Amino acid sequence: MSEIQKVSVIGAGTMGNGIAQVFAQAGLTVTLVDAFEASLEKGIATIRGSLARLVKKGTFQQAEADAIAARIKPSPRLLDAAEADLVVEAVPENFEMKAELFQKLSASTEKRTLLASNTSSISITRLAAKSDRPDRVIGMHFMNPVPVMKLVEIIRGQLTSDATTATIVETTKRLGKVPVLANDYPGFVSNRVLMPMINEAICCVMEGVAEKEAIDEVMKLGMGHPMGPLTLADLIGLDTCLFIMEVLHRDLGDDKYRPCPLLRRMVAAGLLGRKSGRGFYDYTPAAS
Ligand code: CAA
Repeated sequence: MSEIQKVSVIGAGTMGNGIAQVFAQAGLTVTLVDAFEASLEKGIATIRGSLARLVKKGTFQQAEADAIAARIKPSPRLLDAAEADLVVEAVPENFEMKAELFQKLSASTEKRTLLASNTSSISITRLAAKSDRPDRVIGMHFMNPVPVMKLVEIIRGQLTSDATTATIVETTKRLGKVPVLANDYPGFVSNRVLMPMINEAICCVMEGVAEKEAIDEVMKLGMGHPMGPLTLADLIGLDTCLFIMEVLHRDLGDDKYRPCPLLRRMVAAGLLGRKSGRGFYDYTPAAS
């Protein structure tokens, strides 16, 4: 089993910056790549904010937070990701974009480099087929917010080797996270179970079963969920929720996964949740 020391994370968005942070917290050197300078800057600022929160909480001292931040090298060039033992991609959920990335990484990285995807529902086997090393491609599905959530869902593609799986399980444990294995079926376990619940909560809003706050309260107080499904949808992003429902609907071929029409309408209106400022709830400064 190979020891992972250097990691590259592609995509500095919500998931990518959190993933870079947890690797750096575990002492690994991280190159954080994003073609958009603004995303890169925002990603680094988010990491600094999250580290400041942990210093305030007493998890570690300021000097340690500085050392963690210094282990993360931002870059707008994909070629800077090449010298890594492991590359984790966290670019938007778009098959063509991810497929092109896997092709480029196959050309630029050494053959021994492991390629992981943080995809929430795209088939690992299909992505692996775009690379030159399907035995070294695996799903590493982190949960949002990455610095807080313990789970990493590890998804084996059809050709993922036992050695790759063992290395990724071990690396996940080094991050202080809990790896759980799943096979490569639509939505894996997490989103196969979570998304239909969120979708159903949105249908409850659409049908006027209850007010949105009431739906969230029922699930929080009645079922012990840390946040209600509509608040969670806003955290995940309504566009991501719709994308995952479309994957479940298309790839499992069952109408029980039909995306709620209200979900489609909100995404069309640009009401994407926290990232756009409004979703089921209002996150704009004026609202607080
Ligand atoms: N960085 C560092 N620490 C953070 C943080 C961040 N970005 N965000 C929160 N925290 C810490 C806080 O400091 C706090 O720590 P302590 O309890 O030790 O003081 C703790 O997390 C809880 O934070 P808050 O008190 O601010 O808020 P909360 O108690 O309401 O918890 C929450 C927030 C952890 C997000 C909680 O509401 C929760 O677990 N929600 C559910 C999240 C969830 O389901 N995520 C999975 C989404 S699905 C997914 O990601 C996969 C997919 O493919 C769609």
